[in-house]
Amino acid sequence: MPNQPSGADQPSIPILYLNGQLVPADRAYVPALDHGLLFGHGLFETMRAYQGKVFRLDDHLARLLHAAEELGIFLSGEWDTLERAIHATLEANHLRDARVRLTVTAGPGSGLPIFPNTGQPTILISVTPVSQEIAARTAAGYTAVIAPRLRSSQAALVHLKSTSYLENLLARAEAVRRGADEALLLNDHRCIAEGAMSNVFFVIAGKLRTPSRDCGLLRGITRQVVMDLAQALSMDMEAGCLMVEDTMQASEAFLTSSVLEVMPLIAIEGRSIGAGRPGEITRLLAKAYTQVVTRELGQTIRTV
Ligand SMILES: Cc1ncc(COP(=O)(O)O)c(C=O)c1O
Repeated sequence: MPNQPSGADQPSIPILYLNGQLVPADRAYVPALDHGLLFGHGLFETMRAYQGKVFRLDDHLARLLHAAEELGIFLSGEWDTLERAIHATLEANHLRDARVRLTVTAGPGSGLPIFPNTGQPTILISVTPVSQEIAARTAAGYTAVIAPRLRSSQAALVHLKSTSYLENLLARAEAVRRGADEALLLNDHRCIAEGAMSNVFFVIAGKLRTPSRDCGLLRGITRQVVMDLAQALSMDMEAGCLMVEDTMQASEAFLTSSVLEVMPLIAIEGRSIGAGRPGEITRLLAKAYTQVVTRELGQTIRTV
C-alpha cells in the first residue's frame, strides 16, 4: 500500500500538543524563560507513524525518559500521557503516515544558568506528513560529505538526542551547500561516528560494519533494528572504528533513521561507493526492515 498522501482534510494550521492541550500552531506559546530556549536544556525524539501507529514507540519513549533522567528533566510517570498525546496529535491533524516529533525541555525557570531546573517540563508534540521524496530518494540513494569539524567522542551530549542540535544542523547545511544530502561526522580519533541526522553502515569485504558506541554516537533505534536483522540473517557484522580510508573499500553503504529508514548511500565526497547505486545487502536489509514494521504494526506498508 502506498504511503498515505497528506489528507485534504488536514487542518490548514497544524495542531500541536503543548503541555496537556491540543493547540493550533499559531497559538502555541512557550514561556520566554523556558530553559530549553535559553540553554538548550531539552531532548527530542523523531518517530515514524505508519497508518496511525508509531513504530517502536516504546523504544523511543524509553530512550527519551532515560535521557530525561540523566538531564534532570523530571518526567517520571509520563509514559502513558506521552503515548496518548502522540496519538491524539496524529488524530487532531488527520495524519496516519507521519513524522512525529516529541520535544521535552526543562521548562520555564529563573532564567539563570542553574542545573537542574525546578520548573515543570515543557512537553511539545508536532506531526508532519512524510515527504514523498524519501521513497524516490531511497530508490536512487543519498550522497554524503565529510563534516569539516571533528566532534568529541567524549562530549556529554553526543549519545543524547538533545535539543542542542545546532552542530548537526550546521553539518547538514554544509552538506547541502556542497550539493550532498548528509554529512558524516568524524570524532577526535578521526573515526566516523554517524551522520548529522542518521547512523551509518558500510559493507566492506562482505562484512557489515558500523561505528561502535564508543565512537560517540546516538544509538539509533533504526540502527538497532538493522543490527538485529543482520544477526537474524546470519550476516557477518562488526561495530568499531571506521576511518574515511576504510570506506574506500566499501562495496555498499547506507544510512539509518526512523524517518529515512534504510537509505542507500551511494557516494562520499563525490567518490562512488561500489557501483554507485544501492547495493544488494542494502536492499535486503531495507526490505527486511519494512517487513519488521509491517509485522509489528500489523499492516501493509510500501516495500522499497
Ligand atoms: C545524530 C543522529 N544520529 C542517529 C539518528 C537515527 O536515530 P533513530 O534511528 O533513532 O531515528 C538520528 C535521528 O534523527 C540523529 O539525529
